[in-house]
Amino acid sequence: MERTFLMVKPDGVQRGVIGDIVARFERKGFQLVGAKLMQVSRELAEQHYAEHKERPFFGELVEFITSGPVFAMVWEGENVIATARQMMGKTNPQEALPGTIRGDFGLTVGKNIIHGSDSKESAAREIQLFFKEEELVSYNKLINEWVY
Ligand code: GTP
Ligand code: MG
Repeated sequence: MERTFLMVKPDGVQRGVIGDIVARFERKGFQLVGAKLMQVSRELAEQHYAEHKERPFFGELVEFITSGPVFAMVWEGENVIATARQMMGKTNPQEALPGTIRGDFGLTVGKNIIHGSDSKESAAREIQLFFKEEELVSYNKLINEWVY
């Protein structure tokens, strides 16, 4: 089954919306297979955001993601990568529709509450960057009979 990496950023943790965000993905029918509250190191931040190294806001990005704890998660389900991105809304919360996570909770692009992998390749890369294999669990949820 497809997996994606989602992370409540430091602003989302401080705003107290971890529970609301987890609830949205649970209600949708996705399955949580790993989660932890953690402090991102500068080294991990630079690896995670390597694709943005040349962007002018790279320094701000690293400062921000290391500025407080994040809630890192791995979610599983059919088409979870693209569906989670839809549920998050556009990168800039001012363009994100109401009903999406960024549309409901965010105001500025620099503090947009949540990160989500944007492709199968980035999901695989980010999951192994943030989680050890033994921190992820495989289990059968009986409710899946009513989801799929
Ligand atoms: P992520 O899920 O966080 O990767 O967001 P995304 O895939 O929707 O956007 P992208 O990967 O293009 O950018 C990564 C992050 O950089 C965004 O989530 C924003 O927090 C931040 N970002 C993007 N553009 C800007 C900008 O112009 N200024 C600042 N300060 N941050 C930006
Ligand atoms: Mg991105």
